[in-house]
Amino acid sequence: MTYTARDDRYDRMIYRRCGRSGVKLPAISLGLWHNFGHDTPHATKQAICRTAFDHGITHFDLANNYGPPAGSAEEAFGDILRSDFRPYRDEMIISSKAGYEMWDGPYGEWGSRKYMVASCDQSLKRLGLDYVDIFYSHRFDPDTPLEETMQALDHIVRSGRALYAGISSYNSQRTREAAAILKDLGTPCLIHQPSYSILNRWVETDGLKDTLADLGIGSIAFTPLAQGILTKKYLNGIPDGSRATQGKSLDRSVITDRALASIGALNAMAETRGQTLAQMAIAWVLRGGGITSALIGASKPEQVEDCAGAIRNLDFTADELVRIDAIAEEKDVNLWAKSSSA
Ligand SMILES: NC(=O)c1ccc[n+]([C@@H]2O[C@H](COP(=O)([O-])OP(=O)(O)OC[C@H]3O[C@@H](n4cnc5c(N)ncnc54)[C@H](OP(=O)(O)O)[C@@H]3O)[C@@H](O)[C@H]2O)c1
Repeated sequence: MTYTARDDRYDRMIYRRCGRSGVKLPAISLGLWHNFGHDTPHATKQAICRTAFDHGITHFDLANNYGPPAGSAEEAFGDILRSDFRPYRDEMIISSKAGYEMWDGPYGEWGSRKYMVASCDQSLKRLGLDYVDIFYSHRFDPDTPLEETMQALDHIVRSGRALYAGISSYNSQRTREAAAILKDLGTPCLIHQPSYSILNRWVETDGLKDTLADLGIGSIAFTPLAQGILTKKYLNGIPDGSRATQGKSLDRSVITDRALASIGALNAMAETRGQTLAQMAIAWVLRGGGITSALIGASKPEQVEDCAGAIRNLDFTADELVRIDAIAEEKDVNLWAKSSSA
């Protein structure tokens, strides 16, 4: 069936300025890391994307390696762009990244100019786009001069392949270095993409959040739901088909009785706020305005709908924040710690 976006979509979302730039991002953005590969029916992917856009979610985040197989999420989104979103391209911010392993041999990962530019060209082909809005260095490369990786981003922007440059999982010090190089090159760093959730607070302890505010760089926090742990999903056991059963990025050993007790307490607190736990977890990431957008994933359109409802209550009392800190123990859910400690 032909898709027409809902007329009231922009009344259903709020938009926040991305650092000191001209761009606003939806408070909630959709990422296509999981559930957009060959293991998911196309109709499900299409329904998730349509539901997102109908809720005013104008930002879709991809990377070269999203799938499985790697590249297939970009191909799927390219199909959806052609079938559904073609009239809305200028209403969207579409991002991609390069940094993780994408092809064999010495030029298929990390941060060389050779890899970054070739990977960006491959992404554009899969997406069927002339340009992406944001192109990221997906991870800091300790063996490539940072100047080279940033020159690659600058080249990607100057050559029209992307409108803006971003970095992901760089720590505070590396972010300062990267931002200074990009500034000198004349391509400011628009945005940083770190992991961040109630259960994973490295952006606070590392000082990254303060650094981004200081430098006027926007931020989009990925895995705000800790891959689904911060939802009601696992409260009564591990359901079939959930991410923890898939042997991918969420290790079921993290979901212990002790973890479930604290998730249960957070869930009760969310209920007193008139929210679902997913909504409270997203609101927590967005609290105080320090983070521009919360980057969620979804396996069903109903999850997008639930998450989008977070914007109805983004405020916390001081007492609520203290209670969340008391209940929530940091969990071993930061799979990206190695990149941000380099
Ligand atoms: N830059 C990087 O290095 C990096 C790394 C990771 C992710 N990311 C980006 O961040 C995006 C989000 O990551 P993520 O998918 O791990 O984020 P997440 O939002 O923490 O987790 C998404 C998962 O939570 C569950 N879920 C979502 N909404 C729900 C709801 N309302 N009720 C119950 N369960 C719900 C679903 O699990 P089920 O599938 O079990 O239903 C869904 O797949 C990625 O797509 C990607 O764009 C970036």
